[in-house]
Amino acid sequence: MTKVLVATDKPFAAGAAKQIRMTVEEAGFECLFLEKYTSAQQLIDAVADVDAIIIRSDLITKEVMDAAPKLKIVVRAGAGYDNVDLQAAAAHNVVVMNTPGQNSNAVAELALGMMVYQARNQFDGTSGTELLGKKLGIHAYGNVGKHVARIAKGFGMEVCAFDPFVSKETIEADGVAVVDQVDDLYSTCDYISLHIPANASTKKSIGYEILSKTKKGATLVNTARKEVIDEEGLLKWFETSDSFKYISDIAPDNQALLKEKFGKRCFFTPKKMGAQTAEANNNAGIAAARQIIGFIKRGDTTFKVN
Ligand code: 3PG
Repeated sequence: MTKVLVATDKPFAAGAAKQIRMTVEEAGFECLFLEKYTSAQQLIDAVADVDAIIIRSDLITKEVMDAAPKLKIVVRAGAGYDNVDLQAAAAHNVVVMNTPGQNSNAVAELALGMMVYQARNQFDGTSGTELLGKKLGIHAYGNVGKHVARIAKGFGMEVCAFDPFVSKETIEADGVAVVDQVDDLYSTCDYISLHIPANASTKKSIGYEILSKTKKGATLVNTARKEVIDEEGLLKWFETSDSFKYISDIAPDNQALLKEKFGKRCFFTPKKMGAQTAEANNNAGIAAARQIIGFIKRGDTTFKVN
C-alpha cells in the first residue's frame, strides 16, 4: 500500500491533520504522522518505507532521501522549498512540489498584525502611531505580497511594490504603485515588508548597504526567511541609525544581542508562526495530500518545483 508520511516538526492544527488523514485514506493510501520530532534521526528512521512525504519547514536532506528508497514525491505544504535539497531529489528521482498560495493570507495578516503591534509601541500603553497614510513598500509581489497590499490598503496605507519578476500591469491592476529600483523602495517607505524567497541570489542580500538607504524611523518587516538578512549588516545599521526598527517572524541568530542593545526597536515572534492558522493548515495540508494523490494516481506534476 502507498504510504504517505506527514513529517511536521511544527504540527498542523489537529483539525487539519485529521483532514489530511481522511484525504489520504479515501484515496486508498496509508497515512502516517511524525510530529514534534526532536532529531533528524527520527525523520530518517520514519522514511524507510514511505512513498510520499508532506512537510512544512522540515529539512529534507540528502541523508533523508538516502534513507527512503521508495520515496517518489515530497510536497512542501507551503510556499518556500529552500528546506529541500533539490539536487539530492534529482539524484533520487524524487519529485518536489509546493502548494503556492495556500497559506499566504495567514502570513500577510501576521505581517500587518506585527506592523500594528510595532506602531503601538508593542502594546506598552504609551502613545504610538497609526498605519493610515503611511507608505508601505512590498519587496516581492507574489502570493503573500498581493495579500499584504490588499490588507494594507484597508488600513489606508499608500502601497508600492518592487518585483522584477512580476509585470508592471499585474502590480498596477491591484492599485499598487510599481517601484523600478529596489533602493527607491527602501529609501521612500515607512514600512518595508519582505517577501523574497531564500535562494543563492537572495541569501544575505538585505544588509548594511540597502538598509542604510531607509528613511528615518522606517520599519523592516520580515515574514519571509531569516537567511535573506545579512545579520552583521543589520547589526551595523542598527548601531548607526537611531530610529530603524526590525520586526520578524523568523528571529535572527543574533536576536539576544539585538534585543539587549536595541530593546523595542526590534521584535521577534517566539516561533515562526506566519502560516500557523487553522485555515492555512487546512488549505496547505489538504492541497499537499491531493497533489500527492494526483501525482501517484495520474502522474499530475502541477506545482512541481524541480
Ligand atoms: C512558507 O514558506 O509556506 C511559510 O514560510 C510557512 O512555513 P511553515 O509551514 O513552516 O510555517
